[in-house]
Amino acid sequence: MNNSVKTAATYDFMMRAFDRLMIKGWRKQLWAGVKGPLVLEAGVGTGLNADFYKDDFHITALDNNHSFLGIARRRAEIKKKKADFVSGDIEKLPFASNRFDTALTTFLFCQLEKPQLGMAELNRVLKPGGQLLLLEHVRTYGLLGRLLEIISGPLYKMTGDHIARDTEEITAEAGFVNISAKPLFTRGVKIISAEKKQILSHRDGPVT
Ligand SMILES: C[S@@+](CC[C@H](N)C(=O)[O-])C[C@H]1O[C@@H](n2cnc3c(N)ncnc32)[C@H](O)[C@@H]1O
Repeated sequence: MNNSVKTAATYDFMMRAFDRLMIKGWRKQLWAGVKGPLVLEAGVGTGLNADFYKDDFHITALDNNHSFLGIARRRAEIKKKKADFVSGDIEKLPFASNRFDTALTTFLFCQLEKPQLGMAELNRVLKPGGQLLLLEHVRTYGLLGRLLEIISGPLYKMTGDHIARDTEEITAEAGFVNISAKPLFTRGVKIISAEKKQILSHRDGPVT
């Protein structure tokens, strides 16, 4: 087993433990809002969302880590879930614009060096009026928020995880509308939902 396969297997083992503790319920809530048929899951990891893939969705599951994708593909096969697994970077998505009905991520934005680029790409590949759904750990406020802010820099250097990112603001900056956020755990984990702006025709009003 090479190092990247070992890392993926260790990650999968740990993440399954967290899933059993609490994350699976959050995943279920997120997927209850998914609208198909064309769904993009970016940063699919080892495929721990596969339980929620519905037969009438056409899922495209993307990750930039081959070993993670390998586990995700096997997990989907075992669970008899259909998805196209694609190797790629969220910051430069290999898809045409205006393609997907829903784009979603779970615990991805905390890992990106340039989250604004990833968010702009999700906006580009969604159809006008298409839906964005994110389950992410995000910046929180109050005493806990200040503490997390202080340790977030060193923690990012150690783990590559940015635990205090303002993903809601990044969503707004990318031009999404109708943004709402549901706090799940000490307000540091949220389900964020938003829509890509509709393009109105000249007869309906100004093009936005
Ligand atoms: C914390 S894991 C979450 C995995 C999965 N979404 C889950 O909930 O279990 C983050 C995933 O994002 C992937 N990732 C990180 N940066 C990426 C990028 N620039 N483009 C695509 N995937 C990326 C990682 O390889 C990893 O699989």
